[in-house]
Amino acid sequence: MPSSAILNHAARILKTVQAGTPADQALRESLVRTRHYSAPAERRAISRAVFAYFRWWRWLEPKDSLQKQLEAARTLQARFDKNPASFKPEALAARAVPEWFSETIFWPEVGAVAPNGPRALEGKRPYPTEVALLRQLQREPALWIRAKQGLAAKVAASLGHCAPAELGVPLSALSSQLSARAYTGLTDLYRTPEFQAGEFEIQDLASQLVGLACAPQPGETWWDACAGEGGKSMHLSDLMQNKGLLWVSDRSERRLAKLKERAARAKVFNFRAAPWQGDAKLPTKTKFDGVLVDAPCSGIGTWQRNPHARWTTRPTDVHELAAVQARLLDHAAGSLKPGGRLVYAVCTLTRAETTAIADAFTAAHPDFEPALVFSAQHSALSTQFFLWPHELNANGMFIAAWRRK
Ligand SMILES: C[S@@+](CC[C@H](N)C(=O)[O-])C[C@H]1O[C@@H](n2cnc3c(N)ncnc32)[C@H](O)[C@@H]1O
Repeated sequence: MPSSAILNHAARILKTVQAGTPADQALRESLVRTRHYSAPAERRAISRAVFAYFRWWRWLEPKDSLQKQLEAARTLQARFDKNPASFKPEALAARAVPEWFSETIFWPEVGAVAPNGPRALEGKRPYPTEVALLRQLQREPALWIRAKQGLAAKVAASLGHCAPAELGVPLSALSSQLSARAYTGLTDLYRTPEFQAGEFEIQDLASQLVGLACAPQPGETWWDACAGEGGKSMHLSDLMQNKGLLWVSDRSERRLAKLKERAARAKVFNFRAAPWQGDAKLPTKTKFDGVLVDAPCSGIGTWQRNPHARWTTRPTDVHELAAVQARLLDHAAGSLKPGGRLVYAVCTLTRAETTAIADAFTAAHPDFEPALVFSAQHSALSTQFFLWPHELNANGMFIAAWRRK
């Protein structure tokens, strides 16, 4: 497909986005329609162009045609990939993210000294973490897969183009528990026999680490309270070696239906699904060894993968979602057995949805004590842990854990 055809196709997708469809959905729908006559490399070029447009949106000239803007975005992406330092950190801070970004994020540099927010250190921005994060947000994201336990080497050998995850300190000891691979090939993974046989899932590395933070044991009873389409549920079941019982719930019955399809493909049988609206009426009276609350959130940790969301997420979303998160955690916590493990996860990095939620929960629940997020790690923040995109080459995530006394 010539470059002009790729830009024309990408421009058509942008028109759908301008009419109100989120970019990831518009891309998925458009590319599925062309699956039978376009090559994977062409579909990939189209999605790269669309995502480059949203990554470099504030550098583009809106009066230009969409094709011309897409071309300019691709050129900016190539320049950045070759030499990230050719973009000043101040320019990235001002243009790669919305204005409210910096003051809502938990920056480690100010986290401990400025309880009222990073404004206290204004003038010293961008912080080193901010620069590293912004640079990561401007890169194209890695594609991670999770093989079933024991199948990583086999799956990697048959797919090819797979590299294992190498975690740095303090998580390096977890590398051996992961069956994650970064896939750099061009094959449509959903169509491979290995995927169809349930041997692997496409799952971000940060999400895989949430499974390890839960660390469910075979024979235990767990509840994945915001299971959605089951990305983490499938991992929990695999870690439980399909033994014991996994309750999965979500307020979206459509998502639970997808979860069931996924479970059938992955040959996951040890689960029971029930809708839950997040209120005090729980889906079951069962008391659990462990509960995962993978709560709905502002999703800032996914802004590298889905740059359109930078321009559609509003600061008011953060506060509305924080109220939902606190409520979900509060209600779900009542279903734990004494000694049970509660894990809270969000794929975002705002203070309001991370440390503020975890600290408020600890203060309001003297029957819960904070617990290590990862058994292999012993840092000061070890009961609340941020996974940073620039450290992991994956989504950003916050995880907190407690044990019911
Ligand atoms: C972060 S997503 C879950 C992703 C999923 N755990 C996975 O790994 O694929 C959050 C989920 O919470 C659900 N949700 C949102 N509000 C809820 C509520 N009030 N009660 C229960 N679930 C809710 C959403 O439908 C969504 O599926």
